[in-house]
Amino acid sequence: MNVKLRGGSRHYRTVAFDDRRNQVLLIEQRLLPHEFKIIGTKNFRETARAITDMIVRGAGAIGTTAAFGLAQGARAFRGTDPDKFERHVEKVFEVLKEARPTAVDPVNAMLEVRRKMADGKSVAEQQQIALHAAQEFADEDVAHCRDIGRHGAKLIRNDTRILTHCNAGWLAFVDYGTATAPMYAAQEKGRRFHVFCDETRPRAQGASLTAWELAQQGISHQVIADNAAGHLMQRGEIDLVIVGSDRTLGRTGGVANKIGTYTKAVLAHRHKIPFYVAIPLSTLDWNLKSGRDIPIEERAEEEVLGAWGTTKRGKREYVRMANPTSGARNPGFDVTPAELITGIITPLGIFKPKELWKNRKRLGGSR
Ligand code: MRU
Repeated sequence: MNVKLRGGSRHYRTVAFDDRRNQVLLIEQRLLPHEFKIIGTKNFRETARAITDMIVRGAGAIGTTAAFGLAQGARAFRGTDPDKFERHVEKVFEVLKEARPTAVDPVNAMLEVRRKMADGKSVAEQQQIALHAAQEFADEDVAHCRDIGRHGAKLIRNDTRILTHCNAGWLAFVDYGTATAPMYAAQEKGRRFHVFCDETRPRAQGASLTAWELAQQGISHQVIADNAAGHLMQRGEIDLVIVGSDRTLGRTGGVANKIGTYTKAVLAHRHKIPFYVAIPLSTLDWNLKSGRDIPIEERAEEEVLGAWGTTKRGKREYVRMANPTSGARNPGFDVTPAELITGIITPLGIFKPKELWKNRKRLGGSR
């Protein structure tokens, strides 16, 4: 999407690759909305750390980062021995896979890259294919998000008031985003609507990232405290909920997404408000049989006990809010069961959650 910088406007992808330097290029998302900066990771371990430390975050963006990280690691290998190369690639895969556990996109992205690499007849050829395949994954992510926008735009009419949670925008993918793609497509069609961005404690991706994105695109929006959504629903001020997902189970239609999503789905159900989840195909997990099997990331307690912000002088600082002697529990994600979800917006159309499994061939479940 376009970013307004110093009076001008320039198009950026969230994740890109510098072929010459063998670096993954990332928007430093922890600095947004106060500073816009691109960083380059020098090796695959740095790339994995960038995912863990949330320099880059969001399912599709970390999937693409992992794909490029795998290519970066593969390209750094010196030698021609195919067995040694294979062991090295396996190590790179494991390190990147461990960086964050809940989103399935990094694993799906890297498996896709490795599947294509298998056609290479030499180490050098495989190294070349790796980068090409990672680039293809990035381009596919963009295409999927565009298609999600096309299918999802019909849910948004003039004056629709939409609630979204966390950031499933272009910063969470390579471009366009998933939950935001229908909004951008509806905007292109000239529709006027309003978006409520859940603040999304503890890391406030809604207040900092989604609000920044929507402001950049000139979409009417307001940030609300996470606890405000129920009240607004009860007063008839929300017509539609669209969220993203970090892992959607093809077998059950259950959806893992940022902590607090489940609460919003329960509220939407109670108030008969349609609740949609927007996903690219790389977010589908065709293996797990139950939401209980999804690994839920537990993050540092500091995130709950305090908050990061920027001072008037532009310095990024952490302030402690909680009682100094108290600890915290910080699960990063929750799972919303299929019965609370109206539809899953995919690049191939909108499906009921329970329809995913019978459409698995079309949705890439046979790969
Ligand atoms: O912890 P994050 O910021 O990486 O979480 C990802 C999210 O922003 C949400 O869960 C999002 O709605 C999923 S879509 C990428």
